[in-house]
Amino acid sequence: MKLHTSKPLHGTITVPGDKSVSHRSVMLGALADGTTHVTGFLMGEDCLSTIDCFRKMGVQVEIGDNNTITVHGVGLHGLHKPSEQLYTGNSGTTTRLISGILSGQSFETALTGDASIQKRPMGRVIQPLRQMGADITGVDDKFCPLTIRPSKLHGMEYILPVASAQLKSAILLAGLYADTPTTVVEPAPSRDHTERMLRALGCRVKADGCRITVYPPEKLTACDVTVPADISSAAFFLVAGVIVPGSVVTIRNVGVNPTRDGVIEVLKNMGADITLENLRDDGEPICDITIRASKLHGTEIGGDIIPRLIDELPVLAVAAACAEGTTVIRDAAELKVKESNRIAAMVTELTRAGADVTETEDGIIIHGGQPLHGAAFDTYQDHRIAMSMAVCALVCDGESEIKDNNVVAISYPNFFDTLKQLGG
Ligand code: S3P
Repeated sequence: MKLHTSKPLHGTITVPGDKSVSHRSVMLGALADGTTHVTGFLMGEDCLSTIDCFRKMGVQVEIGDNNTITVHGVGLHGLHKPSEQLYTGNSGTTTRLISGILSGQSFETALTGDASIQKRPMGRVIQPLRQMGADITGVDDKFCPLTIRPSKLHGMEYILPVASAQLKSAILLAGLYADTPTTVVEPAPSRDHTERMLRALGCRVKADGCRITVYPPEKLTACDVTVPADISSAAFFLVAGVIVPGSVVTIRNVGVNPTRDGVIEVLKNMGADITLENLRDDGEPICDITIRASKLHGTEIGGDIIPRLIDELPVLAVAAACAEGTTVIRDAAELKVKESNRIAAMVTELTRAGADVTETEDGIIIHGGQPLHGAAFDTYQDHRIAMSMAVCALVCDGESEIKDNNVVAISYPNFFDTLKQLGG
């Protein structure tokens, strides 16, 4: 995909449904009694991998028009043994959350994903699930493929070594099948979509600060799900709108769950002209966001805000490269174990564009305001690196190229169409 220095971006857009909520609507819809109608579902490759896994376990999922799906729940104990290995594609969320569910089943399963998934840390789910009594093994006890055999699960209290919603959710979902309540304690609040959806399905979940307890339910009762637009996808247009001179962009129905809205806080801190309107609640808080091109200044991003914007850090690094002064991103070592090593990837690609960027142990230091020039950018087969560098290309002098641009289909199949629609 070739991109050129952009004229101002103008318009009102919607972005696809939230990836985290979409995954959970299939998983919990499958385990519920009754039928779940989901609207605003993200038809990205990751969420389709989740559908595929549950179909292989006998769950009927119909894909309708206009991003709707219908999940015919089979109940907590109604999944069937799949006739083949489950394949989770590029999706860490599918792999980790489903491991928790599979640990509670009465049949054996094997699961794996693509080359990236086979390199991502699974020891972080294997160890706590084993402590609950799960019979789960992986390559070197750390990597996919995983094999999960039937066993009896016990409730436990577990202190998470990292603020990871995937890890938290894997344990809470295994907790549905345990004989006593299961408690997880997070170092900092991570996204709470699992907890919210479990409650909506009638399961008792107690949250006391960073201490979350799930009480094993007799059943889950199906409940329709409206998926908000994904703030992680909106983030690309928030940054594009703020850095491309003369732009005004409105994004409608964006999910602004307080465990996900760190990107708004940071852009405001950097001096962005950003307004939130029509705040309402549809199972998750949503609103319309308008951003206007603004002069940005550097900032510090670290501590408890990191889990609230973990997926937005690559594109925030682009904003920082366009800001006056220095931005320090710290406490973000988790970025190294995402779909790619996102610290190394962003440092290499922003440097290619002429930015002054240094890699640190747990983040990036960016001295903003250098003139940026077009280049051929690598994606590392990582959707968010591809979209972040596409946003960067809008303010680079001359022509840029995004290699492997199709990788955006993981979370945002129409990303480049929307960019063009805005005039990019
Ligand atoms: C997700 C949690 C985050 C995030 C990922 C989706 C989820 O991962 O990076 O894109 O849906 O729970 P971690 O929880 O591992 O940080």
